[in-house]
Amino acid sequence: MADTNASPILMMTDVTKVYQSRDSLFGKSSNRVVALDRFSLAVNPGEIFGLVGESGSGKTTASRLIVGLEKPDGGRMQFDGQEIVGLSGRTRREFTKKVQVIFQDPYQSLNAHFSIFDTVCEPLVIHGIGDRAACLVRVCEALETAGLTPPETYLDRYPHQLSGGQRQRVAIARAMVLNPRFLIADEPTSMLDASISFQIFRLLNHLREVFGVAMLFITHSLAAARNLCDRVGVIYRGRLVEEGTAQETIMHPRHPYTKALLDAHPRFGCSRRSGYNALLETERPRPETDHCPFYPRCRLAVDNTCNRRSPSLKTLDAGHRVSCFLF
Ligand SMILES: Nc1ncnc2c1ncn2[C@@H]1O[C@H](COP(=O)(O)OP(=O)(O)OP(=O)(O)O)[C@@H](O)[C@H]1O
Ligand SMILES: [Mg+2]
Repeated sequence: MADTNASPILMMTDVTKVYQSRDSLFGKSSNRVVALDRFSLAVNPGEIFGLVGESGSGKTTASRLIVGLEKPDGGRMQFDGQEIVGLSGRTRREFTKKVQVIFQDPYQSLNAHFSIFDTVCEPLVIHGIGDRAACLVRVCEALETAGLTPPETYLDRYPHQLSGGQRQRVAIARAMVLNPRFLIADEPTSMLDASISFQIFRLLNHLREVFGVAMLFITHSLAAARNLCDRVGVIYRGRLVEEGTAQETIMHPRHPYTKALLDAHPRFGCSRRSGYNALLETERPRPETDHCPFYPRCRLAVDNTCNRRSPSLKTLDAGHRVSCFLF
């Protein structure tokens, strides 16, 4: 279970990432996209932390920065008290063993020409762990951990011979074969139907309970986060706007954007919408001055405040924090 008294295993503090995308035709003009804007996050050992936000809010950027696929433009990131940026040599290799990622689309993340044995074994080969016999034992253990049993029947198969749910289980086995301490699951079930998604959630929870793996679970669905996560953080345009226990944040959301996300979620068997109605039908123009990132879409915005300054995160109660002038 999550150890909330221990120091966080992962910390991101005021992390900023700006992409410059060039005009593809002439390569001259460049667009500046602020994917993360002074973004902060802390995940405790053994905890499943849900990072929730709409498409383009910066969730995948956060995961790419953590594993070093991109460099931040500002801020600090620490894993187990150690700075992530600048790791090299042996410490970098140790870090890449401890932190693993499961991507959204197992079709893209698995090599179609690799058998399941080669797929799950590859991290062991990269890290020079064990001979072939030892690798075979560890691959079978990892497949079993991921619920692919009996494991021997999967070894010689290829990704196209498996279902979507089985492919995602192979990706999970590959992530688990190095006994990591931290998993990033970036929308791991968005390609799967509801019942298979539920099985994958159960598997992720099992990994946390049995192996004590902490997780950053990335999703656009508050319902998925509520199923699985201890705490959630809501990200809007690269900023963390609300954070708290999954239960409290989803049952008693405070930020107008969290309320809008809940409104967007269909309620099964409920024809009348009793939503929060926090979202404007037509966006306001974005102010030139510093402003709340949600101001252009927020029905509850207060003029002369929300369009003049940018709110910081305030603690409301028991670890529930919100970045909004209404509080
Ligand atoms: N390599 C890149 N070059 C330029 N802009 C990028 C690049 N990668 C991401 N972006 C931009 O950064 C922003 C955040 O993208 P990101 O992929 O982190 O969003 P996301 O929350 O993961 O979205 P989704 O839910 O659709 O996966 C988007 O506006 C995106 O267009
Ligand atoms: Mg993404």
